Amino acid sequence: MSDLITIKRGVELELDIKSLAYGGMGVAKIDNFVIFVKGAIPGEKIIARIYKKRKGYAEGTVKEVVEKSNYAEKIRCNHYYVCSKVQSLSYDQQIIEKSNQVEDAFHRLGGFSEFSLHGKIEAEQTYNYRNKMEFTFSPHRWVLEDEPEGVDKSFALGLHMTGRYDKILDINNCHLQPEIGNHILSSAREVCLQNPQLRPYDPKTHIGFLRFLMLRFGVNTNDLMVNIVTSYSDINKLSPLIDTLLKKFPEITSMVNNVNTRKADVAFGEYETLLYGEPFIREKLGKLTFEVSANSFFQTNTKQGEALYNEVSKMIGLTGEEIVYDLYCGTGTIGLFIADKAKEVYGFEVIRSALDDAEKNADLNNIENVQFLKANLDTFFKSGQLPNRIPKPDIIIVDPPRAGMHSDMAQYLPKLKAKKIIYVSCNPTTQARDAKILCEKGYELKKSVMVDMFPHTPHIENIVLFSKQGL
Ligand SMILES: C[S@@+](CC[C@H](N)C(=O)[O-])C[C@H]1O[C@@H](n2cnc3c(N)ncnc32)[C@H](O)[C@@H]1O
Repeated sequence: MSDLITIKRGVELELDIKSLAYGGMGVAKIDNFVIFVKGAIPGEKIIARIYKKRKGYAEGTVKEVVEKSNYAEKIRCNHYYVCSKVQSLSYDQQIIEKSNQVEDAFHRLGGFSEFSLHGKIEAEQTYNYRNKMEFTFSPHRWVLEDEPEGVDKSFALGLHMTGRYDKILDINNCHLQPEIGNHILSSAREVCLQNPQLRPYDPKTHIGFLRFLMLRFGVNTNDLMVNIVTSYSDINKLSPLIDTLLKKFPEITSMVNNVNTRKADVAFGEYETLLYGEPFIREKLGKLTFEVSANSFFQTNTKQGEALYNEVSKMIGLTGEEIVYDLYCGTGTIGLFIADKAKEVYGFEVIRSALDDAEKNADLNNIENVQFLKANLDTFFKSGQLPNRIPKPDIIIVDPPRAGMHSDMAQYLPKLKAKKIIYVSCNPTTQARDAKILCEKGYELKKSVMVDMFPHTPHIENIVLFSKQGL
């Protein structure tokens, strides 16, 4: 490191931001020392204030932008600092940065020195694409710097301030959801402010009624669900909100009230009351129709979800003769999507309600060559729980959560001797780590394609195809 500069907490430095790190921080280097800067984008020259110094790297925030980035684009959103500064980067550059992050993860963490992506599937629709939003009610509104003294902060309906579980930023317009979602959000806020009985729940004291407003949109069907999550059941109390939304928005096809009496700050209810219409929305992916209930997992970008599954299907190249395992199958969407091209599909998943949805969706689409099994995949195969009646797989699809596969699962996977493994991941760092294990145990990395499911956010989705060595 240069003798002239001491990097420590509290120091201010002029930095050129060269790239974007996985997670969305800007990256600068002094000599070879890496500095991650929150809220900085590639191409900017900034003054950063260092708030953390560790062996090998430091972290800072932007104090001042000295030179704007050539990749900067006008920010549509007033709340980008809660969500992500990635929004201010041109979409083309977002794709370049995300691709570099995937490649970097495979070079550094996976040890694949020659790795490069074979394809990048960009989103055609980069705004208003999310089919699910979850807004939090709170009696602790985050007050912005430019708001007057003494402003009322006792009600908010919006999103968590980054790193603050207790503060909610009032959101009036989220550009990631369909426009009607913003109208519903505004109406809900207005009704609550006019009706003193509609008080937000306080996660500190556990007093209060309203917890979340969740919206689900059937992008290919126009179905629309409003899920009001409360801390106890009281339909009378809710009626001004129910009546206003139903009257103002004839587009609503489903309204439910989930009740979460627990302290856990989640929109998942212990029980649900149907208030209007059906207890689910329908959504179409390719030729299939899915019923998605309030608590079901479903890809949050319908159009790109379709692109992801089409790419998986293309990469597998099924002939109709194959036994396919769909590991971490959630509600079974990938397995169901490719079932007409396979002999048999077996989905494995730990959450019972997801498996129930998977069964229901198989019935709904008259798909008979799929079976779903409850399995904790951390231990399932290794501890010999696979029933004998289930044939060995030719193809395995894995789509684990962000943390990747449990190391026992990654170590065991090659023992199933599938010809191909397709690994879908929303975290290239854990994917690269697991890929290394697969390649040490007899597989070759053949192809990798990134699908941008989450424009204007730092999130990444990546598919990797492996084949058994020597095939
Ligand atoms: C990224 S989602 C996969 C979703 C699904 N493939 C799809 O496209 O809709 C990961 C899934 O892994 C499941 N899961 C997490 N840990 C698990 C475990 N130890 N065993 C089995 N399933 C697990 C989660 O419940 C979740 O449904």
